Formats: sequence, C-alpha cells, structure tokens
Amino acid sequence: SRHLIGLKGMPKSEIEAILDRAGYWEAQPVAASSALSGKFVANMFFENSTRTRFSFEVAEKRLGAEVLNFAAAASSVQKGESIYDTVKTLESMGIHGGVVRIKAVGVMQELAERIKAPLINAGDGNNEHPTQALLDLYTMRKHFGAIEGLTVSIVGDIRHSRVARSNLWALREMGASVRFCAPDNMRATELAEYAPYVGIDDALQSDVVMMLRVQLERHEGGLFGSAEEYRAAYGLTEERAGRMAPHAIIMHPAPVNRDVEIDDALVECGKSKIFEQMANGVPIRMAVLERALLG
Ligand code: CP
Repeated sequence: SRHLIGLKGMPKSEIEAILDRAGYWEAQPVAASSALSGKFVANMFFENSTRTRFSFEVAEKRLGAEVLNFAAAASSVQKGESIYDTVKTLESMGIHGGVVRIKAVGVMQELAERIKAPLINAGDGNNEHPTQALLDLYTMRKHFGAIEGLTVSIVGDIRHSRVARSNLWALREMGASVRFCAPDNMRATELAEYAPYVGIDDALQSDVVMMLRVQLERHEGGLFGSAEEYRAAYGLTEERAGRMAPHAIIMHPAPVNRDVEIDDALVECGKSKIFEQMANGVPIRMAVLERALLG
C-alpha cells in the first residue's frame, strides 16, 4: 500500500529518498508543477491544526492537485457519523488520496486496512506524526549535513507526544542517538528501552535540543505544578540556552507556549529552527504526497 501511517519500521533508504525529493522541491520555483494535476486530495482533519493542515494544502496546490478541505465541525460527524464512514464517503466520490488527523489511537490503522485510496497520517493521538518527524530530520540534515552521529534530546511531554515517537523511530533508523528528558508524569515508560531519560542539564549538551509543547489540554491540572514551576524545572530558559554548544540548534514542532517550555526570546533567536521547520514542512509534504499518489 502507498499509505503513510508511521515511520516505525520505515527503512533508512526510504526516509532518505523522501528527504532527497523534498530537497528537489525546495529548489523549485513556487506554483510551477502539474505533478498531481487532475488528482483529488481530501484534507480530513478530525482534530485541530494550523501548520500541518495549511502546509499540506500549500503542498497540494504547488503540485497542481484539486484540493478538498473537510472540516469535522461543519460535517455529518456532528450527527454521529464515524471517521471510517466519513473517509469511506470521500473515497466513494473518487478522491485519489487523503490526509487524515485524528485524536484516537488505532483508528488510523483500521483506515489503512479498509480504505484503498492512499492515506497520509497527519497525526494520530500520541502514536505518530510522520510528516512532522520527516520535516524535523530534513531540517537537521540541512543544518548539519548528515543525521548519523547526531545526539538529539527531546524534552517535555513525551507521554502525549506523537512527534517524539515518530522522531524516535526515524532518528534511530538514521543513526542518531535520541535521549528524552521529562518529569515522571510525562514519561513514556514503554519507550525507555529505545532512549534513556536524562536530566535537563545533560539534555542541553546535545546537537539538537527539541522542546515539546506542554499539552495543557491533555493534563487538566495534573501538569507539573504551575506553568512557572514547569519552566523553572524543564523549560528552555535563556540561561539554559546559553549553556548549549555554539553549533547546537533548538527545535520545537509548535504551537509554542512561550515562556512555558521555551522562553519568548528564544523562539526566533539565532539557534532556533522553529520557523524554518514550518517552511520545510511544505517540500516534505510535496514529497510525501507524490510518493503516496504516484508511487
Ligand atoms: N506541529 C504541528 O503539527 O502543528 P499543528 O497542530 O498546528 O498542525
């Protein structure tokens, strides 16, 4: 199948092919391709998004696709229609591919088994967010020249993070070493065999310090004390950033809670790749759409 459900198990050669193809698209002039001319692509977001949703739409339009945007809030999902029936409905109308984001874990797998049109996972619960990790790897490779041998520390809400999981699988496959840093209630114990947990001071001594958003909506009070206490214990403060190596970079998938997991002044600082990550999301998604729809 040409679905892209996750990066777990994707071989290095395939990851590299996607990164290389994104490099090709990044070098092309904007809005010049007819690669997906006549292809209908539906963006089906059952959970909110800004970056992923719009960068897929930009990517689709740059490839000349016909874009259908599905908004769950204005759909028959509000009448109780299931995600499967919704995607099956769009498939029956002849879409050539779909981009899907959902809250629940497990549904994406079911869709991949039952839907024939190629589907791209735009984030499912805390399971995987493959295009985010691909754009993260692309950003690292562009900065460092290679991913093999890098030390990447992912700091924050690992337990709830699909970004951490997709990055873990792809970075390990590419020969980077991944470390996690998180308070007890944000750890994913099932991942401990793949990435050691380190303290925040050790996490700073990495080539890449990747901060994760504190998912306030998924914690309901059980966070880690207050936002101020979280910042003091695990936030990337200006003082902590000053202890990073000169060559090291700061990443964050965004959206950012400024002054919680990362200081406001660092978001657009020289070490930060946060907005470059967003820019790289477009060529990565062009490469992924092409792979899914054209093989
Ligand atoms: N990084 C990311 O997935 O952002 P959105 O939720 O806005 O798409």
